[in-house]
Formats: sequence, structure tokens, C-alpha cells
Amino acid sequence: MEIKTIYQQIGGDVSIRRIVDTFYPKVYENEELSPLFEGDMAEIKRKQWMFLTQLTGGGALYSEEFGPPNMRARHMLFEITPRRAQAWLKLMHETLTETGLLETDGGKALFERLSQIAPIMINSQ
Ligand code: HEM
Repeated sequence: MEIKTIYQQIGGDVSIRRIVDTFYPKVYENEELSPLFEGDMAEIKRKQWMFLTQLTGGGALYSEEFGPPNMRARHMLFEITPRRAQAWLKLMHETLTETGLLETDGGKALFERLSQIAPIMINSQ
């Protein structure tokens, strides 16, 4: 039996783009998170598009441009509290619900991965 990557299960590039296009406008409007996101939305969308492609098994786009993901270290520049991690995950849950992806096995698996990664980013109380 062929084992599909999460990338294949969710429908590849179209879905990754839909996720970042839905997610970041929510982040930039969120009271808890917006103070951290002062940069260009297009650039963070591009980086997250590359990272999620890589995370889901669609190709090492992020590392080809930026090297090892090292996400915890890259997030040390920002004050990430448990509340902020929770807000991030809540918006991702909304995103996967609105895009219909949470109804799919791939979407559920992706949310599970992100739920494991988000707490690792917490670096302050
Ligand atoms: C837990 C809550 C999180 C918060 C508050 C947070 C916040 C941030 C902030 C403020 C930035 C920089 C934005 C900018 O450059 O304008 C960033 C970058 C990034 N975040 Fe997060 N993040 C969180 C979780 C995650 C998770 C779970 C992932 C992985 C799926 C992730 C992936 C990324 C990526 C790929 C970047 C770009 C890194 C780079 O500069 O190359 N973040 N995040």
C-alpha cells in the first residue's frame, strides 16, 4: 500500500496556500498576537508556505533558502507566552475548519503536528 504524505493527503500546494492566506489575516487582527507581527504579511506568508510545505513532506523549500528550521531558536526574538501559543493554535484550528481541511485525515494530522510544535515555542510566562 502506498503511504501518502500529509502534503498529498491535504491536496498539496493549493491547500498550503489556502492555509496561509486564511491564517495570517487572522493573526494580524488578533489582539494577543498582532503586537508581535510588525513585519510584511506577504513575507511571513511566504516563509510559512515554505515551512508548512516542508513539514508536511512536500519538499524542503524552507531549508533550501534558510537552512535548518530551528524554529524554537528563531522564535526566541519574540515573547511567546502560553496565552499567545494558545491564541496561535486557536486561529490555526479556525483556519483548518474554515478551509474544510479539518474534516480530512491529512488536516487532522497536520493540526496534531502543529499542536505538538506550538508549546515548544513558549519562551516566557
Ligand atoms: C506558538 C505561537 C507562535 C507565535 C506567537 C509565533 C510568532 C511568530 C513571529 C512573531 C514570527 C516573526 C514574524 C515576522 O518575521 O514578521 C514568526 C515566524 C515564523 N513562525 Fe511562528 N509563532 C508561533 C508558532 C509557530 C509554529 C507552531 C510554527 C510552525 C508551524 C511557526 C512557524 C514560523 C515560521 C516558519 C516563521 C518564519 C521564520 C523565519 O523568519 O524564517 N510558528 N512566528
